[in-house]
Amino acid sequence: MKLVRSLDFLDISSDLIIDLALQAKLLDHGRLALVGGAVRDAFLSDLCSGACQRTPDLDFVYEGDMNLFCIRLQAYFGLQRMQQLRLHDHFGTATLQLDSVRIDLASARLETYPSPAENPLVVFSSLENDLSRRDFTVNAMALVVNADGDSELLDPYGGSHHLISRELVFLHDESVSEDPTRVIRGARYAARLGFSLGTQSIRQVKSTLQLWPWSWRFGDPVDLVPPALGTRLRMELELLFNNEPWPQALSSLQDWSALSLLDQNLQNDSLLYPRLRCANRLQLPLLCALLSAAADPVALSQRLQIPGQQQRWLEELLLFRRWLETDVLITSWGEWDALQWTCSLEQECWTPEVVALSICDHQVCWRPLLRWWGRWRHVSAEITASELINQGVPPGPRLGDELHKSRLQAIERMR
Ligand code: CTP
Repeated sequence: MKLVRSLDFLDISSDLIIDLALQAKLLDHGRLALVGGAVRDAFLSDLCSGACQRTPDLDFVYEGDMNLFCIRLQAYFGLQRMQQLRLHDHFGTATLQLDSVRIDLASARLETYPSPAENPLVVFSSLENDLSRRDFTVNAMALVVNADGDSELLDPYGGSHHLISRELVFLHDESVSEDPTRVIRGARYAARLGFSLGTQSIRQVKSTLQLWPWSWRFGDPVDLVPPALGTRLRMELELLFNNEPWPQALSSLQDWSALSLLDQNLQNDSLLYPRLRCANRLQLPLLCALLSAAADPVALSQRLQIPGQQQRWLEELLLFRRWLETDVLITSWGEWDALQWTCSLEQECWTPEVVALSICDHQVCWRPLLRWWGRWRHVSAEITASELINQGVPPGPRLGDELHKSRLQAIERMR
């Protein structure tokens, strides 16, 4: 489909885009096109009368040499207008800030996957081939911008029809197997835009995941995991939790049987939402809380390479769960008061975040754990160190003991 229209419908200065297109034309007549989320959101905004949020950055694809293009842009715009230019010549990409607009530039490329879920091999190519490597039809539209202020829509996969039917449709049958992170992207877009994944695309997700494993199986060394099942999957999950309506996105992933990408326990867990809602209230990192419900949280956290401190919390959580079973739940813990809970927990030096993760398990004893986490652990001694010194207690271990005793007395008086 080809559609010529003025650039005015974009929510940004069309002069800036026209200037970019002019520089591309003057350089070597290579086409310059706005692609990805900016095009999708602009058309969507048009369809629903401006109700759609704009993407914060603009992605352009350029059919030509990125290094030469950046040199030309620098000379034309000058340092005042064009800031923070970062050129990755080898990858044919650049990011820059132009009149405070963040712009990502990439040379048009074709990607092939040496094996499923690995990073793709890249060769510079045409705009059409660049669109063919993308995830969803609505993200595979390009507005080729002309120096006269018009633009021409390239929409080889019918993305504009799917914008109207509010559907996410993969470009081809191998899309998920090549890049399984697209399933998480689909859940993000569906939740954010109120779209649904097309029937054939849902079939593709389910059938591809049933064919698991890729070259890597659960239990294989985590450092051999392909990036799209490891670090890149984590990055998409972080975007899901940080930027999107995550309850809807997670529910879509479960509906599509897609949480088996992470772990079968997560896929089958009907209490995932209450767990994460609890984690949200306790201000825990949600991805870490999600992984805590996996069959092997530690292995999964290593596979996804979540931050080291969170990996250690999950290791400690396994010990904490065992401690609860062997040292607490077999006792008459229901009769324990604030002091006994505090002494038991603090004697073992459990990390507060680990206790918080365990509260999200909704174990039978979650209430006293929550009271410790929320109140008892914050109680301080009723007397200060300087008051004790004034009373004749010498600085040193005895002072520490007295302060500790005073704190425990304060807790003992609590209900
Ligand atoms: N893309 C893809 N497959 C991926 C990642 C990205 O096909 N695994 C393509 C999509 O065409 C996407 C574009 O690269 O539109 C840019 O990716 P990204 O910046 O993540 O998304 P945006 O298009 O900017 O959309 P949004 O920011 O709204 O998520």
